[in-house]
Amino acid sequence: MKRHVALVGFMASGKSTIGRKLARKLGCAFFDTDDLVVHEHGEVAAIFSNEGEAAFRRYERAAISGVLESDVAGVVALGGGALTIEANRELLRDRAYRIFIKASPEQIMARLKRTRQTRPLLAGNLSLTAIKELYDRRMPLYASAEHIVEADRLSGREVIDDIITWLRTEKIELGALGR
Ligand code: S3P
Repeated sequence: MKRHVALVGFMASGKSTIGRKLARKLGCAFFDTDDLVVHEHGEVAAIFSNEGEAAFRRYERAAISGVLESDVAGVVALGGGALTIEANRELLRDRAYRIFIKASPEQIMARLKRTRQTRPLLAGNLSLTAIKELYDRRMPLYASAEHIVEADRLSGREVIDDIITWLRTEKIELGALGR
């Protein structure tokens, strides 16, 4: 079974946009675990407020295993908190090449201000301090990825090129050409 390419990183670091374009370039499937959860259970913010974070993590876990257990390898963009769950970490370690899209807290802050999509974990507390605090706590989880893209000074296209170069260097093949 081929391994997937999983994009990990903090909220609003561009995982979904980059993942969709990367998959298109590679000619392989794209999955977004937040989208899969929304499709099955409704909006993320509503899940957090009506059912709590634990319910969201259960739904997210099911989405991640569903994707990683399929035998057609693709690109998967993960929610920023997916790696906080040990079972997800194990599955991803076994079934995916993890790529950390590393954006600075300052850039995350700017992006979060621009977006209409709410992130319940920072709702009502969108400050650089809150972002840094959560980011610092999660950094060791993200930093265990097989590859890290320092994304701050790169355009979306450059991030994708960086990932493709890394995949080639590692001789990792996905999609129509690699099946
Ligand atoms: C979360 C990140 C979000 C979403 C949810 C929780 C987190 O995804 O899964 O709001 O815990 O960091 P993005 O990383 O796509 O924003």
